[in-house]
Amino acid sequence: MADKKHEDIPIESIDVFPWNDHFNTGIPEVDEQHQRLVQLLNSLATHMAFQSDTQTLDIVFKELTDYTVYHFLTEEAIWHEYLPESDLETNHKEEHNGFISTVLSLKAKKNAHSVDSMINELLSFLVRWLASHILENDKYMALVVLAIQSGLSQEQAELQANDQMRSGMKLLIDMLLSTYSSLATNTIQLMKEAAKRKQTEQQLRISAEQLEQTVQSLDKANKSLKQQYIDSIKTFAHIIEMRPGIKSGQSKYIIEKAALTAREMGLNAEEKKNILYAGLLMQIGKMSLPDTLLEKSFHSIPLADKQRYLKHAVEGEALLNGLTQLKGASVLIRHQYERYDGSGLPDGLARQKIPIGSRILSIVSDYIAYLEGTMTGDVMSVSAAISQLISRKENYYDPAIVDAFIKILKEDITVEMEEDLPVIKKSWKNSRLASNSQKATVDRPVLEISWIQLKPGMEIESIYFDNKPYIKNCIADQRLISSITELRENTGSNPVVKIRMGAK
Ligand SMILES: [Fe+2]
Repeated sequence: MADKKHEDIPIESIDVFPWNDHFNTGIPEVDEQHQRLVQLLNSLATHMAFQSDTQTLDIVFKELTDYTVYHFLTEEAIWHEYLPESDLETNHKEEHNGFISTVLSLKAKKNAHSVDSMINELLSFLVRWLASHILENDKYMALVVLAIQSGLSQEQAELQANDQMRSGMKLLIDMLLSTYSSLATNTIQLMKEAAKRKQTEQQLRISAEQLEQTVQSLDKANKSLKQQYIDSIKTFAHIIEMRPGIKSGQSKYIIEKAALTAREMGLNAEEKKNILYAGLLMQIGKMSLPDTLLEKSFHSIPLADKQRYLKHAVEGEALLNGLTQLKGASVLIRHQYERYDGSGLPDGLARQKIPIGSRILSIVSDYIAYLEGTMTGDVMSVSAAISQLISRKENYYDPAIVDAFIKILKEDITVEMEEDLPVIKKSWKNSRLASNSQKATVDRPVLEISWIQLKPGMEIESIYFDNKPYIKNCIADQRLISSITELRENTGSNPVVKIRMGAK
């Protein structure tokens, strides 16, 4: 028997022919087979309603007809055993044969016409025939056989079976038959509607999946573009730092501290991104300034040139504002020299009118400038630089941001990886984990600079060649710089130079 085949097809089943105990004949083998037949009939109806493909329909159809033939043979063998050569046996066999030929002709119709047009015809026939055959014929035959088995003659058995069939049975049969007939039609209609809905749902699901896939690939492409963009900006920042007077590790320090301050101030992802880009590119306008001007410390630049020098903020904005992604950052670059009291450049903006990113960047970059001595001519200690920030609250700086910045300097915390700040992801090797108690003192910043930027008088934190320490904690002089240059030429590798900012 090919029982397995249709069970492999995962499909929701709706019974067009629900089994009812009134269909039991009392002969277990016959009843089991009838139930299996009903099951196969329901399966065929389901596949038809759900418009399974022709190949599947053929399989299920063949299963039903094969099983019917097998069942008829079983039944006929039983009838033959107890009613050999009788009219009852002959008539029953003819009924079976009639059924087979009708089903086969309907199957031939199925091949010639649309499945839809013959669903009602075929299923109604199957349901009606099976219900009436079982209730009227098989049950009667079973009653006769059971009576013969209990010791009655064939004649007595037929009389008894006639009586049993007459008493109330006819009414029940009519009722069941009409119920099953309308049930078949209604159920098929319902199943067709359910199938249509399911198909629509599936199409919607497929569309949603396709949409999701598209969004995912767009997202991936966007991320990759974003990364390429950030890489380009980093490269550009390095190029800017090749200009004289700009320490190569400075922008890295500025964006790290500005990012932490921005987080402390509760800024959103967009604002933090703009600060990151602006921090990397805030000196881009200096590209057009002559070396002679850049080599000087800001405090030593003549007043006439100071105006020219400070204009780099506006030029930086002009260079970047055509780039959509850098639009927000370019505004922050423009306003990097504004003062909180409105006395700054280029627009004299005051207080909250100055973009918050510019207010943050100005504090962090001035802090470095105080330590370096470029602002005032004095190399300051960390505490002096912090005092300078505090004393200039309200006139130069936003007081709340100064407080937030000093707080993060004292905490010296490790930055978690933030997706919107990819540049600082792996740049916190020097940071410690936040200690249980806040540190009272602030360490002097250590900047990694290019070896060509090393000048006599700089305080060296460490110099490494090929990951091996060369020198630590000393003041650079001309002799040391010459020996480093020589070693570089001999080894062919660039040293990693870290200097400490600010006075002790
Ligand atoms: Fe039968």
